[in-house]
Amino acid sequence: MKRLTAMRQVVVAGLLGLGMAFAVQAQQAPAATPGSMPGIQSQNVLDLPKAAQEQIARDQTQPQNNAPVWREVNSTVEHYSAIKTPEAGVLIQQGGHQWQLFRNGVVTVFGGWLLAIAICAVGVVYLIKGSIKLHEGASGKMMLRFTRLERWSHWAMAYSFVILAVSGIIIMWGRYFLLPIIGGSAYGPLTLMLKNIHNIVGPFFTISVVVFFVLYVRDNIPNVRDLQWFLAGGKGSSHRFNGGEKLWFWFGVTVLGVVVSASGWVLNSIVPGIDYFTREQMQLANVVHGIGSILFMAMAVGHIYIGTIGMQGAYQGMSTGYVDENWGKEHHDLWYNDVKSGGDHRGQRA
Ligand code: HEM
Repeated sequence: MKRLTAMRQVVVAGLLGLGMAFAVQAQQAPAATPGSMPGIQSQNVLDLPKAAQEQIARDQTQPQNNAPVWREVNSTVEHYSAIKTPEAGVLIQQGGHQWQLFRNGVVTVFGGWLLAIAICAVGVVYLIKGSIKLHEGASGKMMLRFTRLERWSHWAMAYSFVILAVSGIIIMWGRYFLLPIIGGSAYGPLTLMLKNIHNIVGPFFTISVVVFFVLYVRDNIPNVRDLQWFLAGGKGSSHRFNGGEKLWFWFGVTVLGVVVSASGWVLNSIVPGIDYFTREQMQLANVVHGIGSILFMAMAVGHIYIGTIGMQGAYQGMSTGYVDENWGKEHHDLWYNDVKSGGDHRGQRA
């Protein structure tokens, strides 16, 4: 960022100098016509770039008006810069304006609504349905559902996700709901700190997703029973994970995990082998990251609901590793049968 700012200052200074030189020359030579400028004897005006010629001509008719220079600056054409990094000669990148409008408009507004709707929806479901209780009540007999490694990898992913979600929400919407309350002198440093935390926690989240994927993928292979589970409105037989959990695993953790991680690594500029991203690439990564993470958070709201207050006994499984046998029987009957007929905690026979 610092490098970009310094580059911009150099290019701005150069271009302003160019514009001013044209203006001064024009004032010194009020009656000159292109091709016979007294201030530019060493170089024929016709040899100058078109924009410079236009500027010289404009100064004759409207002194001080350097619109042609700025039109050229805003043309995304690469101009001279002593700095040799890619794009250093592009002072104003036009796409930046579109990106800003899209990010601060479409993404922020529709994304904000989506999250608000997701939160309200689980609230309404809870009010109408309440917590899903065990029909037969707890048996008191427990069975292993998640090993310690499986639980730790879930919680590593969940904690890092929540830190990223909270800091991301403040980075994206904090100016609307937090800035008016705590004021700029607190909001500025807080957001800067959260942004740095976000940048550091992001790569850990990616690593936790990879570990989680490796541990859980075997029991998330889709089959026709998952379709039946959806068609029956979220009911029916299932092995260790049901259709809804598999959708969350594949579309949530896997697809959105990859999309949000990959775009995040680009934004962090830590992609191995690539040490420079253009402004356009960063804007694209930003929009992909924003949309992906908003979808991810909206889905996570539903998952966290069902994993806590939405279903009796589910949280216990992920916190202690054990669930009540009646929970197993009622929510994952085929898995329960597999375990009871000699399978391990995944329901697999040796
Ligand atoms: C932070 C609060 C969270 C809570 C309370 C929570 C709770 C739970 C519980 C109770 C289970 C076990 C469900 C079962 O026994 O079938 C579970 C599984 C799972 N959780 Fe979470 N979770 C949280 C966050 C997350 C996040 C942020 C993600 C993804 C980024 C996630 C992804 C998963 C997945 C994929 C499974 C297993 C389902 C499968 O493999 O199909 N969880 N979670």
